Amino acid sequence: MNDATRTMRRRTYLMCRPLHFDVTYSINPWMDPGRPTSPDVGLTQWKWLHDQLVDLGHRVVLIEPEPGLPDMVFAANGAITVDGRALVARFRHDCRTGESRAYLEWFRRNGWAEVAQARHVNEGEGDFLLVGDQFLAGSGFRTEPRAHEEVATFFGRDVVGLTLIDPRFYHLDTALAVLDDDEVMYYPPAFSPESRERLAADFPDAVLVGEAEAEAFGVNAVSDGVHVLLPEHGGRLAGQLAERGYVPIGVDMSELLKAGGAVKCCANELRGGPDD
Ligand code: ARG
Repeated sequence: MNDATRTMRRRTYLMCRPLHFDVTYSINPWMDPGRPTSPDVGLTQWKWLHDQLVDLGHRVVLIEPEPGLPDMVFAANGAITVDGRALVARFRHDCRTGESRAYLEWFRRNGWAEVAQARHVNEGEGDFLLVGDQFLAGSGFRTEPRAHEEVATFFGRDVVGLTLIDPRFYHLDTALAVLDDDEVMYYPPAFSPESRERLAADFPDAVLVGEAEAEAFGVNAVSDGVHVLLPEHGGRLAGQLAERGYVPIGVDMSELLKAGGAVKCCANELRGGPDD
């Protein structure tokens, strides 16, 4: 398949400037509070991603970062939105619970008609990825399996539950990315045998990602149907995507990777909001 057959859809992304970004605690294997971080480098890298999305024609809206919430830059975790409804996250760890209030206020202030906070632990688009009209949903480290049912009911959509088994890939979006309405890429060993079977059956043509690329967070990507923004690394993933007619765009995310997050973690796709 070549470029001509791919179609880009203009998206709206919610992002959060990493003004208070730091690694002060450790809730995933990538985080080492003993290792220094540079707020300036983090901000420069984030801004490059932000500007790239804008230059590609997407709309980017911002939520104000709050002091004391160093992971707030990972806006994907804040909520799930479809059809103008927003289900705000309930975080697993106390160090992130303060973010939920900020997202609830943001959605209400910005005119979203139906806004609620999840009852069960649910880390937003980190663990819920919309493919076509159904969700793929992760659990195993953060989001609780019963949150999958809650999401199905709240949005009236099918939810396919997938179990993550490798702590390095603790959110679904570190192990799987949606490339198009019916195409995904994923790193198979991150999933339980049952979940791997399910993925193989549902997405027989998926792009399978190798370990080196997955470890470099290559799967933590944002796709608009044509352009795939992904952390820069020397692996063969960019070539695999180009073969399918996508346009891979490498992003230097070295600073935010110290917190175990990269491209997708920074961009929450808003669907059906008041301005769409
Ligand atoms: N330090 C953050 C955490 O462990 C990183 C979140 C990354 N976000 C994501 N959507 N995968 O919660």
